[in-house]
Amino acid sequence: MSAAPEAKFTEEKVLWVKHYTPKLMTFAITRPEAYRFSAGQFSRLGFRDGEGFIWRAYSVVSAEYADTLEYFTVLIESGPMSAKLAAMQAGDTILLDKTATGFLLPERFPDGRDLVMLCTGSGIAPFLSILEQPEIWQRFEHLVLVHSVSYAGELIFNERLAALQSHPLIGEFFSKFRFIPVTTREETAGALGLKRIPALLSDGTLEAASGLEFDQENTRFMVCGNPEMVKDTFQALLDLGFAMHRNRIPGQIMMENGFS
Ligand SMILES: Cc1cc2nc3c(=O)[nH]c(=O)nc-3n(C[C@H](O)[C@H](O)[C@H](O)COP(=O)(O)OP(=O)(O)OC[C@H]3O[C@@H](n4cnc5c(N)ncnc54)[C@H](O)[C@@H]3O)c2cc1C
Ligand SMILES: NC(=O)c1ccc[n+]([C@@H]2O[C@H](COP(=O)([O-])OP(=O)(O)OC[C@H]3O[C@@H](n4cnc5c(N)ncnc54)[C@H](OP(=O)(O)O)[C@@H]3O)[C@@H](O)[C@H]2O)c1
Repeated sequence: MSAAPEAKFTEEKVLWVKHYTPKLMTFAITRPEAYRFSAGQFSRLGFRDGEGFIWRAYSVVSAEYADTLEYFTVLIESGPMSAKLAAMQAGDTILLDKTATGFLLPERFPDGRDLVMLCTGSGIAPFLSILEQPEIWQRFEHLVLVHSVSYAGELIFNERLAALQSHPLIGEFFSKFRFIPVTTREETAGALGLKRIPALLSDGTLEAASGLEFDQENTRFMVCGNPEMVKDTFQALLDLGFAMHRNRIPGQIMMENGFS
């Protein structure tokens, strides 16, 4: 499917939509042959809206090599795009900006042994894509994913993450992986409970749960989610002696606001 050749977007077809809770959904759309992205980047998705358009950013959940593009969204009460997505059905048309963007890219770290991915809510999306890239599993000795949500019912990716152990490209490396769910408003079996990520970093709980020693030489952090969480987590990591990664001044922390 395509719009006029000079357009900055293409018209894609919604292939499927899955609702998990009233506010959590995933969906997939057709992928144009020319669409390129790196795991960790986001697409701009849109709809025609009256005389104009509505556009919002969504991190790609799919692997770079996937035939379709999958996304995960948290529906916001009274949110204009959320209303469109909530009503969307398979077969509908959705607009895809031709260019994917974003700098939450693990390959930007020139070194490091252990990759620790810290996220809240929909901030898990880029990490689901990153975790489907075999080169990440080859490159790092340990991969830790920490996902914080308010309630256990929002931990909808447990089975998908567990299924990585039989993934044809990744299964052999699966023992490198540790998933640490966090539920902040209730105690949940198998999850850390009632504390947010910055506090869990500061008091050493996350380090202990990961089975690793967090240090400047070996540990690299990627952070995505609620902007307040990104800010507070950055501060907690600074307090622990880590520094922002910049291309010219390598450090240990890379981050992206999952919304703003
Ligand atoms: C780089 C980037 C990547 C993004 N990736 C995703 C993604 O993968 N999945 C996703 O659901 N959203 C993502 N978003 C947010 C998304 O672009 C929309 O803002 C969101 O879907 C809500 O749109 P809306 O029009 O309904 O409400 P808006 O008018 O856009 O937002 C209203 C308010 O809702 C809150 N909010 C917005 N998005 C979220 C969210 N995801 N979780 C919790 N609260 C939120 C904010 O406080 C915001 O001010 C991303 C945003 C950015 C900037
Ligand atoms: N009606 C309600 O009670 C209610 C509740 C939540 C969400 N919502 C709706 O859902 C949307 C939010 O979606 P969401 O729950 O996925 O996103 P979220 O509010 O960003 O929460 C996701 C996770 O981030 C944590 N978090 C929030 N701020 C943080 C910070 N400064 N530092 C560390 N962790 C932090 C939350 O902890 P906490 O649980 O401690 O906040 C939770 O574990 C809202 O816009 C609203 O529409 C409604």
